[in-house]
Amino acid sequence: MRRKYICGNWKMNKTSSEALAFANKINDFEFENVDVLIAPSFVSLESLKKSVKDKIEVAAQNVSEFDDGAFTGEVSTNMLKDIGVRNVIIGHSERREKFLESDEIVNAKIKRALSDNLFVILCLGESLEIKEENKELDFVKNELLNSLSGVENLKNIAIAYEPIWAIGTGKTCSPEDAEKMCREIREIINKNYGEISKEIRILYGGSVKPSNAKEILAKENIDGVLVGGASLDVNDFIEIIKCGE
Ligand code: G3P
Repeated sequence: MRRKYICGNWKMNKTSSEALAFANKINDFEFENVDVLIAPSFVSLESLKKSVKDKIEVAAQNVSEFDDGAFTGEVSTNMLKDIGVRNVIIGHSERREKFLESDEIVNAKIKRALSDNLFVILCLGESLEIKEENKELDFVKNELLNSLSGVENLKNIAIAYEPIWAIGTGKTCSPEDAEKMCREIREIINKNYGEISKEIRILYGGSVKPSNAKEILAKENIDGVLVGGASLDVNDFIEIIKCGE
């Protein structure tokens, strides 16, 4: 049975002191039978890693596809490892759309991260236009396979299905539709990678709240959630963690 994975993506929110205040509160919350991860901004990454209790994982929200060098503004896998961070979100739709990260760039980042033994949460999902054309399955399949091109082992990867039209909009994908897509993703992985499809964790993201998390997490092929807005409030995030226990 795949343990549920409750992941918070803070995006460009929380100063270092706000991150520390969050850590102090969540450290008092005892949880079991569920894995928890928080992805702060780079400026809070090392301090949050040092502040949260060991059972809470910390992740970067992005990483460079290049090794250390003349890449102004970038952060390397080596730098993440040096501060004890071994998880990274790659391919979030906001990076694909706003920072023009193509499948090829996402693929290069994934290969770089895996080569440095980082754990990757690969984000993918369709736009409203694609959904309205009923082409979401083909789109997600292509995005998945293109992002994983040349990647032979998925043991250090989780997939986060985040329909773009549900991100930050309050329009959550229905648990049934989310389950359907996550099941399709698992079948695509089974066809292309075999047995790992039974172990890989497939998350849902897109307006997950304490009010809908239980029903979403109860679905057979949804192994966790990647939470944006609701992860910024420690009480809401704790309520969502409880839904995964
Ligand atoms: O990465 C998770 C994020 O995209 C979901 O955001 O605010 O809809 O939970 P939100």
